[in-house]
Amino acid sequence: MRRYRRCMAVMLSVGLLAASVTGCSSGGGDDRQIIRIGHNQATDHPTNIALLAFEEYIESELGDKYNVEVYPSELLGSQTDMVQLTQTGAIDFCVASNSILETFSENYTLFNLPYLFASEEAYHAAMDDSEITDPIFESTKQAGFEAVTWIDAGTRNFYTVSTPVETPEDLRGLKIRVQQSPTNIEMMDRLGGSATPMGFGDVYTALQSKVIDGAENNEMALTSNGHGDVCKYYSYDMHQMIPDILIGNCDFLDELPDEEREIFEEGFRLVNEVEREEWVKAVEEAKSTAENDQGVTFIYPDITPFQEACLPMHEAMLEQYPDLEPIYQQIQAYNEQYPVEAGEQEVQ
Ligand code: GCU
Repeated sequence: MRRYRRCMAVMLSVGLLAASVTGCSSGGGDDRQIIRIGHNQATDHPTNIALLAFEEYIESELGDKYNVEVYPSELLGSQTDMVQLTQTGAIDFCVASNSILETFSENYTLFNLPYLFASEEAYHAAMDDSEITDPIFESTKQAGFEAVTWIDAGTRNFYTVSTPVETPEDLRGLKIRVQQSPTNIEMMDRLGGSATPMGFGDVYTALQSKVIDGAENNEMALTSNGHGDVCKYYSYDMHQMIPDILIGNCDFLDELPDEEREIFEEGFRLVNEVEREEWVKAVEEAKSTAENDQGVTFIYPDITPFQEACLPMHEAMLEQYPDLEPIYQQIQAYNEQYPVEAGEQEVQ
């Protein structure tokens, strides 16, 4: 399956490069412009459902001009590959984790900080506030792409094949897959585990073949990606709320006539809205499937020692990137407005 997907990815990427060079359209007498959107989730995932809603909306409004094609499941390559394809205009849009974008612009480091948001409400309010997101979303324009909306990817927690994680000490000696970003590697080092960065599509095999002892992600990874077939302990340490970001090629976006750009903007809002509605249902279902069908045990540790190990990263980031301080402070204002009640852990 994996080899098939890689072959498909290579074939599609080669085809896409040829198409982008020749300005190829739908073909067969269809002269509509193809809009290609890539992502790494399965077809039943909220991200795919939201992008299909986008496809339907754009084609209902501008279907005589555009043919939107959504490519799920890393068919166009890993997230890093897809960001590069979007940068060059070989494809028009892709969904990338905020973690990956940190390597394209340091501004994205901010949303990758562990324990940045005090609660889900604070996280959502901050991500919905364009004063907070605009400086970050626009920071890659020079590099050829910009963020057009964010997508909820829940809360990231540790899960392991056979070691229940109750405290950071339990992570000692364990090889834990993290996303390929300096912040995630440092977080893992601070928590005592051994950070093993790799692409999302490689995690299942790495778990199964015991190359790694665990990983960290939202609950959907257990079911949608099958990690719960191998990992039997999922521990709500709540270390990060990392959004996924829909990015678009700047040339494509800038060349849209104003009235079309407005329709696309509405489409981006729709992606966010549909995905968030679907997300709530999908996580509930994933928890129940993981517990009842895959035999995953959910653990609710005291998060204080995890937090204490990671919090120095906030100050270090602000020292390294002082320009991010005002945005960081705006997020703190939301944290004060939407704190987690003392003694209460949101997910329970
Ligand atoms: C989540 C997130 C993806 C990301 C993945 C990962 O599933 O939604 O965008 O690629 O985590 O851990 O790599």
